[in-house]
Amino acid sequence: MVSVEFSDGVATPMIPNGQAKSKPSTHATANGNVGAVLENGHANGSSSNGKAKEEASKHQTLGHKSLLKSDALYQYLLETSVYPREPASLRGLRELTAKHPWNIMTTSPDEGQFLSMLVKIMNAKNTIEIGVFTGYSLLSTALALPEDGKIIAMDIDRSNYDLGFPFLQEAGVDHKIDFREGPALATLDELVQNNKNHGFFDFIFIDADKNNYLNYHERVMQLVKIGGIIGYDNTLWNGAVVASDDEPMRKYVRFYKDFVKELNKVLAADPRIEISHISISDGITLCRRIV
Ligand SMILES: C[S@@+](CC[C@H](N)C(=O)[O-])C[C@H]1O[C@@H](n2cnc3c(N)ncnc32)[C@H](O)[C@@H]1O
Repeated sequence: MVSVEFSDGVATPMIPNGQAKSKPSTHATANGNVGAVLENGHANGSSSNGKAKEEASKHQTLGHKSLLKSDALYQYLLETSVYPREPASLRGLRELTAKHPWNIMTTSPDEGQFLSMLVKIMNAKNTIEIGVFTGYSLLSTALALPEDGKIIAMDIDRSNYDLGFPFLQEAGVDHKIDFREGPALATLDELVQNNKNHGFFDFIFIDADKNNYLNYHERVMQLVKIGGIIGYDNTLWNGAVVASDDEPMRKYVRFYKDFVKELNKVLAADPRIEISHISISDGITLCRRIV
């Protein structure tokens, strides 16, 4: 992986082979959301009609992670219901991550709050996370688990996890994390080889390389218990799942679009699960294993 330096740099989300294939120009906000400049160099929905329209259109770009009507509405949600209750460790991690050149990859704070609520409602204890980055979703989940809860956290690159680790320590939840560096497919295969892991996990959150989600699906279906939940992140893919091929969009958005659409088709037809496709952030599909 490319080494990370903090700067006011350019977000370069990864596509397979660890290559950052696009260099979209971004304007990051403190919550890690961005207004994106697209492949053709123009902001989507562009700008001649004044600031308000520009803000609204920024929100509607195919690189923006919230699907709400406007930035103002999203800001209202964050300021009313999320930030006032966000633990200090999560806030610190969010602020650190906002300065990261790849800040677009972070889980949004409202989704973090949702994951926390979900894990608590489920009384989850043993969980897996695929795709850690600096750890916002990991910390949200870890804080929600009981003292003896565990998360096997997988990422191909440890360096961003290390950046966020002090916040896991500050929150007193680092003992819950078993971090495994490497391609998640290989780590899942190792877990699947041990029969004791079959049906052992209450909750599995997947937020990594979209082209592998279907490969992950067959493995995590063995690892999650009946009644447990698998959450696939980004399943509305910045709104790009309904974009036509000639619509301008960021290169990595275009690259993964068809993988996400295929995943959605497969999940909708899989008789082994019940699903709920939720439009928080840029979509999370919850799959409840039923057989
Ligand atoms: C969208 S970010 C995860 C964001 C994270 N959930 C958060 O809250 O900040 C995706 C992560 O998946 C990791 N990743 C990409 N391909 C992977 C693979 N094949 N195996 C494991 N991790 C991978 C990347 O290194 C990156 O950190």
